[in-house]
Amino acid sequence: MKIFLDTAKVEEIKRAAEWGVVDGVTTNPSLLARAGRADVEAVVREIASLVDGPISVEVISTTAEGMIEEARRIASWGLNTAVKIPMTEEGLKAVRVLSREGIKTNVTLVFSVSQGLLAAKAGATFVSPFIGRLDDVSHEGMTLVRDLAGIFSRYGFSTEIIAASIRHPLHVVEAARAGAHIATVPFGVLAQMVKHPLTDVGIQRFLEDWNRLTTEALSAA
Ligand code: E4P
Repeated sequence: MKIFLDTAKVEEIKRAAEWGVVDGVTTNPSLLARAGRADVEAVVREIASLVDGPISVEVISTTAEGMIEEARRIASWGLNTAVKIPMTEEGLKAVRVLSREGIKTNVTLVFSVSQGLLAAKAGATFVSPFIGRLDDVSHEGMTLVRDLAGIFSRYGFSTEIIAASIRHPLHVVEAARAGAHIATVPFGVLAQMVKHPLTDVGIQRFLEDWNRLTTEALSAA
């Protein structure tokens, strides 16, 4: 399973990219607001210098015409972008046109199997089921990922599933088990995934034992 970073903060992307685990990046208007960056093209250029994989950039328009225009502009930057299109009737119209033009799309705000299925049929490159937001309203988000993975595999859709709205490390593990192609992970969750208390205790114990050994060897000499 690939791991994307779900952030528009370049510093976070730089740090995680050094760990060799980042296959792409997803942004959205809220993440750009959190990063305090309205200069979207400049942000995407900075990210592209750090990460090879696709960078998702969301449209603001709500009409198919507007979305298509925005998507073509984003694609004209000549970077490895995927245009995030909201899961609406207008969005599906836009995805149909864009997929025929070879512009990558990421259909976002997917909350049901029927939405994911339609997005794949319209030609989406990626679909993003929002796990955490479903869990928030007492629907098991991971069931959606599992169902979509089964259906896409059964009918040979090339659309990749991005498990989005990830809240904790277990979501990432469960997304992998459920057959997501990708999990897009906030930096804080990725940092939590690195850690285990037994690793820290283990390192401390090895260093203490080594120090004891070398101190004894010195005093015996
Ligand atoms: C990524 O593509 C989504 O926009 C993001 O994961 C949404 O996360 P949230 O539900 O925490 O805002």
